[in-house]
Amino acid sequence: MCGIVGFTGTAQAAPILLDGLRRLEYRGYDSAGVAVADAGRIEMVKASGSVANLAGKTSDGAALSGTCGIAHTRWATHGAPTDTNAHPHLSEHGLFAVVHNGIIENFAALRAELEAGGIAFRSETDTEVVAHLLEKYYDGDFKRAVMRTAARLEGSYVLGVLCAREPGRLFCVKEAGPLILGLGVGENYFASDVTALVARTKNVVYMDDGELAELTPERVTVYDRTGREIAKDVSHVVWNVEAAEKGGYEHFMLKEIMEQPRAVKSTIEPRIRGGEIDLGETGLTAGELGDIDKIIITGCGSAYHAAVVGKYVIESLCRIPVEAELASELRYRDAIIDGRTLLIAVSQSGETADTIAAMRECMARGAKCLAIVNVVGSTIARLAGGVLYTRAGPEIAVATTKGYTTQLAALYLFAVWCAEKLGRLDEARYSELVSGLRALPSLAQRAIDLNLHVRYLAERWHGQENLFFIGRNMDYAAAMEGSLKLKEISYIHSEAYAAGELKHGTIALIDEKRLVVALCCQERLFDKMVSNIQEVKARGAKVLGLAIEGDRRIFAEADDVLYSPGCEQLFAALPEIIPLQLFAYYVARENGCAIDKPRNLAKSVTVE
Ligand code: M6R
Repeated sequence: MCGIVGFTGTAQAAPILLDGLRRLEYRGYDSAGVAVADAGRIEMVKASGSVANLAGKTSDGAALSGTCGIAHTRWATHGAPTDTNAHPHLSEHGLFAVVHNGIIENFAALRAELEAGGIAFRSETDTEVVAHLLEKYYDGDFKRAVMRTAARLEGSYVLGVLCAREPGRLFCVKEAGPLILGLGVGENYFASDVTALVARTKNVVYMDDGELAELTPERVTVYDRTGREIAKDVSHVVWNVEAAEKGGYEHFMLKEIMEQPRAVKSTIEPRIRGGEIDLGETGLTAGELGDIDKIIITGCGSAYHAAVVGKYVIESLCRIPVEAELASELRYRDAIIDGRTLLIAVSQSGETADTIAAMRECMARGAKCLAIVNVVGSTIARLAGGVLYTRAGPEIAVATTKGYTTQLAALYLFAVWCAEKLGRLDEARYSELVSGLRALPSLAQRAIDLNLHVRYLAERWHGQENLFFIGRNMDYAAAMEGSLKLKEISYIHSEAYAAGELKHGTIALIDEKRLVVALCCQERLFDKMVSNIQEVKARGAKVLGLAIEGDRRIFAEADDVLYSPGCEQLFAALPEIIPLQLFAYYVARENGCAIDKPRNLAKSVTVE
């Protein structure tokens, strides 16, 4: 999704802005641009393609003087990814430059109104209306122009605004979408996320919807929608810049796969004290848990897959009915929700538009809401009644790995904690499950160590055009995630199927060209999976089996084998996904794909 950076200080702005853009590249984009105010005018350079193209056009920013500016990476929505459509956009007489993340839903009406007033548009974007409105409303009062402009806009937007006549002053506005202020010494910043800022400051302010901020080198002032100054808390970012760099790995995705043992440990370990799980941070009391008669877990993409795993585990342990639902569906469904419903919203970024909308919808109907989120201070974290942070650290690769496994870890923690609070577990089972949770970090490491041969399997199988992932119950949930991992980074078409469903239609697609990845990590369903494997083999398919370490039965069934270490069956989906992440990674690498930034994808989907 689009990335925004703003800087005002005494240093040359453009190199700092370009550095910020580079750190936001992981979000996904297709063009970039920068504008600085200098000597009463705005200098602007834009480039389609990468930030490297923009750096080339500006000698890494050195060609633009000026100590105050804004910059942007654009993920095209309105208009192709051309130089002209790239942000910033200038007002008619070049007085204002604006960068924007989001969608202005009433832009067509605003554009018609402005064109009727004689303004000639240069781009096809929705954003350009903002630049023209700013100039129209500017009467020497920068803040009033920003507020009057924002009041005309409908939709979701984060704006960064620069004015040629206001040296050293920037405004930014947030109305749905992420925006963070960075507080420096004699310099201040805004950005779409902390990754862009962490090399320069660790003191940040998380903006809320309806707020605008004024930045000068010395001061940051936040206002509400009415223009009244408001006090905001300053947060301290705990991770450092190395955490957002590759650390010797060829790709962020591989680094993040390898970080999973530590990330899972950071998520689980601090919440277990003296053999007891403590999730007081959720704000849910035993009494409130007892009042819940339904849980809905929601999210998008991999977060939804984590929700499906969570459904199996929570239902099994807590005996509360659980629905797992895609946020994009839940938000438009007339769901049966009331004060006895607990919504669990799962999101790595905490900024996914559909998940936010589904939360708002469910909360308006009375649901209590717990968020499982990685990014501290994100919109979802602030919207929910309680938060259980995953502690994965920054995740840069578009394909989530440690973000997903830490979501599983958090859902498992919740399931065991909730079951114990509801009196559903005897002491022995509780301590068995707590030990099972504590074992997960070393099992994640074991899953990595057991599957180093996967790169050779990828050499063999990377030429597939279509493949299937099959499994049952939690293995089916893991199959969905394994399939998504492969398709998003290798562009190979794959489908996840509940193994028992194959014969209801899909088996028609199975032939001798097909590779079927069969997940067989549920002991009680192993024999059922063997039957499904035999069905596809009878049609000539090749089989890559995924089984529990030491289970020799799989050798009789599969052409090649991946392994997951043995563990508490309810938690098997966590180590089990790691070989599938590695498989996807090495297949994509064999195929020469852009692993960290796959085509058409953004890390954080902040528009619907
Ligand atoms: O930040 P979120 O967890 O809310 O993101 C949800 C999905 O967009 C995300 O999981 C996406 O499916 C990933 N690219 C999967 O690897």
